[in-house]
Parts: sequence; structure tokens; C-alpha cells
Amino acid sequence: MARGDSYMLMREETNPNVFVVQSKQARAPIASMERTRKLLIAFVIVMGILIIFLVVVLEHIIKSSNAKTEQTTGPFSSNCTITLVESIPENVTFSAGSVQNPSIYDGWMNLLDIAEERIDIASFYWTLQGSDTKTTDYSTEEGETVFKKLQDVAKAGVKIRIVQTPPTDAFPQIDTNILSKEGLADVRSLNITRLVGSGILHTKMWLVDGKHFYVGSANQDWRALTQVQELGLITYNCSLMANDMSKIFEVYWDLAKDTKIPNPWPKKYQTTINVDSPAQIKFNGSNAASVYLSSSPPKFCPPGRTDDLSAIIRVIDSATKFVFVSVMDYFPTTLYTRQRTYWPVIDDALRRAAFDRKVHVRLMASLWNHTRSDMKNYLRSLAALNYANDAYVQVRLYSVPPYTKEIPFTRVNHNKYMVTESVAYIGTSNWSADYFLYTGGIGYVINETGNSSNVRAQLQAVFERNWYSNFTTPIYDKD
Ligand SMILES: *[C@@H]1O[C@H](CO)[C@@H](O)[C@H](O)[C@H]1NC(C)=O
Ligand SMILES: *[C@@H]1O[C@H](CO)[C@@H](O)[C@H](O)[C@H]1NC(C)=O
Ligand SMILES: *[C@@H]1O[C@H](CO)[C@@H](O)[C@H](O)[C@H]1NC(C)=O
Ligand SMILES: *[C@@H]1O[C@H](CO)[C@@H](O)[C@H](O)[C@H]1NC(C)=O
Ligand SMILES: *[C@@H]1O[C@H](CO)[C@@H](O)[C@H](O)[C@H]1NC(C)=O
Ligand SMILES: *[C@@H]1O[C@H](CO)[C@@H](O)[C@H](O)[C@H]1NC(C)=O
Ligand SMILES: *[C@@H]1O[C@H](CO)[C@@H](O)[C@H](O)[C@H]1NC(C)=O
Ligand SMILES: *[C@@H]1O[C@H](CO)[C@@H](O)[C@H](O)[C@H]1NC(C)=O
Ligand SMILES: *[C@@H]1O[C@H](CO)[C@@H](O)[C@H](O)[C@H]1NC(C)=O
Ligand SMILES: *[C@@H]1O[C@H](CO)[C@@H](O)[C@H](O)[C@H]1NC(C)=O
Repeated sequence: MARGDSYMLMREETNPNVFVVQSKQARAPIASMERTRKLLIAFVIVMGILIIFLVVVLEHIIKSSNAKTEQTTGPFSSNCTITLVESIPENVTFSAGSVQNPSIYDGWMNLLDIAEERIDIASFYWTLQGSDTKTTDYSTEEGETVFKKLQDVAKAGVKIRIVQTPPTDAFPQIDTNILSKEGLADVRSLNITRLVGSGILHTKMWLVDGKHFYVGSANQDWRALTQVQELGLITYNCSLMANDMSKIFEVYWDLAKDTKIPNPWPKKYQTTINVDSPAQIKFNGSNAASVYLSSSPPKFCPPGRTDDLSAIIRVIDSATKFVFVSVMDYFPTTLYTRQRTYWPVIDDALRRAAFDRKVHVRLMASLWNHTRSDMKNYLRSLAALNYANDAYVQVRLYSVPPYTKEIPFTRVNHNKYMVTESVAYIGTSNWSADYFLYTGGIGYVINETGNSSNVRAQLQAVFERNWYSNFTTPIYDKD
């Protein structure tokens, strides 16, 4: 018997109320015996009801505490489904039979359709309407439909919160201004420079009803739906990970108002889901994976949160067969500091993988009108390792073919992801120092532990479709 139990028993034996009833009964005259008997029966009935009540309450408490354990540490939960979504620019066609995924446009519209209570969006800039970019073209339609639908769901009572980079001349944030003025969204601007000394919020994330979320490369820009190549993941019915995502959102949301980064971070921002203790999830009922979300910059990472750079390095370091990377920009340097400095943190990890462990490395960066010319130097440098000490490193540039009409800042592969033989990593950051030191971004790491058809395999198929398409050229004549 546990000590608590015997303590309870002692209390019962010496219960003064019980003693009072007994003593009353003993001294009562014969005439009042009947009344005492009735009192006793009533007492027993009341006690019975009380016990039943207690049992029901206890059962409820045990059940809800079990649910809590399941959320944080429990066995594989299998209600989460995950969908890889892409924007393929107008007039880009892959060879017949190539993999095809649902569009980001359909994914966002679906999220708007199923939203019941609230939508939280973390964003860089907003140009969902053709008028925002002074463009007249049929390809602005999807962005405009999303914007209209966002207004409609807000009017229907869904509470929308948006955090964005503060408006500037280049990004006047006209759309969110409209939403805010019409009382359709609560909008906050997060000035990361004020808190970190430099940087912007570059995240692209939607969180719906505390259970569904989107994360990926697409900005809140009509061009991101029809003129720029983008990739993201939508996770449905996954309150465990959505709740973790909400902690990242709340950091942005609260820091947009706060004057400084809290020290120490209050408990509500902290997480236990990270690189060392990922959540165990079976996506689509069967695809077992360990999963976590990483965040950037490190100053925005409360205790427990893995920073995005560490997540990327860990994925590369643990690859045993291959690492395929698709990023828009790749610079082992800072770009936006007054004086640029060399920063080979990711570059070294890729070289180690290839040179030390014979992991097949493929890097696909994007070439467009605004590509900085020195990027090719770093790409050639990495690819120069090919065949040295049996290293296998291939580097290609991907360019989206032109549209008949010239639309500024379009026709580029904006994807930011990596796939290895066991991990799918989806990010929002370019691979240069700045993005990991002072830019707001999110990484989503899915480490497949099962071997059934899964999102990692889907991501690999997308990479290979792009890699072998007509739109890539090797950084050297041959690779
Ligand atoms: C790719 O290029 C080849 C050679 O120019 C051409 O025959 C083929 O049709 C192109 N494929 C696609 C999907 O455009
Ligand atoms: C952001 O904060 C910095 C530093 O405090 C300030 O110089 C800048 O004007 C702010 N930017 C905006 C858009 O408010
Ligand atoms: C999410 O769960 C609900 C309720 O179980 C179900 O109706 C819906 O189809 C699920 N959504 C997805 C995308 O799996
Ligand atoms: C699955 O759904 C239940 C009930 O809504 C929820 O408590 C649980 O956290 C969900 N699992 C995950 C991994 O989100
Ligand atoms: C993926 O999980 C395996 C164990 O199942 C672990 O050894 C490996 O380090 C994990 N990879 C990453 C990138 O966390
Ligand atoms: C990019 O530059 C080329 C050549 O200068 C031009 O033909 C093309 O229209 C430009 N594209 C965009 C999207 O600006
Ligand atoms: C897209 O491609 C189609 C067929 O190749 C062509 O007719 C059309 O003019 C192109 N549209 C644009 C806007 O480039
Ligand atoms: C990185 O990505 C953003 C958009 O996500 C793009 O506007 C920017 O030009 C990219 N490149 C660099 C070098 O910052
Ligand atoms: C998954 O792994 C198990 C055990 O190694 C094996 O029996 C099964 O055939 C594998 N399934 C697939 C689809 O590869
Ligand atoms: C999971 O199910 C969804 C919806 O049924 C589907 O779109 C998606 O491709 C599936 N994901 C995987 C990894 O099989």
C-alpha cells in the first residue's frame, strides 16, 4: 500500500463526522430508531452519489492527462496528413510523365475553405493584386482570388492575424493596409533590425485553426502563384506540430510590439520538439517520421528551439548516401554586411560529406536576371571538388524560360529545400550567412523512419525532375 493510501485510510477511521453519526445512533431512544435508520439510508445514498461523481471526475482527469502525454511524448500519432505543393510558372512544361504536385494556389484556397476560427500568417511582403505591381495580365488572377477569399473568410468571422516586414518604398504593403483598414485583419510589422541590429522577416507561413499549416518558399505575391517556381508543404490535422509552429508565430507577433527580446524567454515560447527530441508522427496514417521545426535568427530561438543553421548542418552531416540541395541563392559569405566576410559553414559541411564520406552532393542554384555574378565563383569552387579523392559533387544552374511579357522579378526558381536518403528539409531562406544570422526564417525537418511511399520520396522526385529538365546547365561544361 502506498503511503498516501494509508494516510487516507487513517483519516477515514478517525473521521469526526462518522463518529458523530455512530454516537447519535447509540444514544438514540427506540422511537427514533426508525428515523435514524432512514437518515442512515439517506447518508449511504448521498455517499454513493458522491463516489460515482468522484469516479467520473477522476476518469475525466486521467483521460485528458493521457491526451496531453500523447501530444508531447506519445507513440506515433497518425491523424496528420502532408501534401507537397508547388507553383510551376506559366509556360513551363516538363517532359510527359513527369511528377506533378497540387499547386500552392489550390493549397492556400483549400486552407481558406477549411478555416473555421483563425488564420495566422507570417510574411515578408504582400503584393497579391496585379495593381500592386502595376501589372495587367491574366496570370495575376490567382493571387487576386486568394486576396478576395481572405477578405471573405474574415467577413465570415475568421480571425486573421498577420505579421510582416515593415512597409518600405519598395514594399509598401498595400494589401495588408487594406485588410487592416477594413478591419479584416490584425496586422503587425516586425522590425528585426531594431531587435537584432539588422535583417528582415523573410518567413512564409500560414497557420490555420491551430491544426493545419503551410510553410515554403512562396511569398504573399501573385507572382509566387504563376510566374515564379515555388515549393512548400501543407500539413493538415496536426495539432501537435501546429501548436509548435504557433510558438514561432507568437515570437514574431509579440516581438513586433516588444521593445526587446525577452531574457529569459517565458515558458510559452519554449519547446521540447527539436533536433534531439523530434516529434514522432505517422503522416497519412503510415509514413513514420521524426519531425521538428527550426527557426532563424538564433536570437529568436527560445530554449528548446533548434536554430535553422544547426538543422541544416545536422541534415548534411547525417547523410550517408546523397544530399541534393535546391536553393535560389548560394553564397558562403555575408551579402548585406557593410564589409562582406567569408562564411563557409554550410559549404564546409557539403565538402565534408563529399570528400570524407563519399556522399553524392548535388547543388542546384537559380540563375535569373538579378543573380549576383560572384555566385558562380562559389559554385565552381564547390564543383571543383568533383572526383578529388573520389568525391562526387555536381552543381547546376536552373533558369526558368522567359514569358512573352516582361514582368519584373519573375521567371526564377525560388525553391529552398534539401533531400537526403532519409530526410526532407523545407526552408524559407537563401543559403548565405545573412539568412541564418539575422533574418527571420523557418525550416521543417522530416526524418523518415519508415520506408513506405512518403513526402521525402516526393521531394526527391521533384528535385530529379528539375535537375534532368531542359532548364538546367552544369556549372562546368560537364558534371
Ligand atoms: C527539351 O529539349 C529537347 C531538345 O531541345 C527537346 O527535344 C524537348 O522537346 C524538350 N523538352 C521539353 C519538355 O520541352
Ligand atoms: C527599424 O528599426 C531601425 C533601428 O531601430 C530603424 O532605424 C528603422 O527606421 C526601423 N524601420 C522601420 C521601417 O520602422
Ligand atoms: C482532417 O480531419 C477531419 C476530421 O477527422 C477530416 O474530415 C478531414 O478530411 C481531414 N483532413 C485531411 C486533409 O486529412
Ligand atoms: C491528432 O488529433 C488529436 C485530436 O484532435 C490531437 O489531440 C492530437 O494531438 C493529434 N495528433 C497530432 C500529432 O497532432
Ligand atoms: C534521423 O533519424 C535517425 C534515427 O532514426 C538519426 O540517426 C539521424 O541522425 C536523424 N537525422 C537527422 C538529420 O536528424
Ligand atoms: C531578363 O533579361 C533578358 C536579357 O537582358 C531579357 O530578355 C528578359 O526579358 C529579362 N527578363 C526579365 C523577367 O526581366
Ligand atoms: C505560352 O506558351 C504558349 C504555347 O507555347 C504560347 O502560345 C503563348 O503565347 C505563351 N504565352 C506566354 C504569355 O508566353
Ligand atoms: C533570396 O530570396 C529572396 C526571396 O525569397 C530574394 O528576393 C533575394 O533576392 C534572394 N537573394 C539574395 C541574394 O538575397
Ligand atoms: C520496408 O522495410 C521492411 C523491413 O526492412 C521490409 O520488409 C519491407 O519490404 C520494406 N518495404 C518497402 C516498401 O520497401
Ligand atoms: C497524403 O495524402 C494527401 C491527401 O490525400 C496527398 O495529397 C499526399 O500526397 C499524401 N502524402 C504522401 C506523402 O503520400
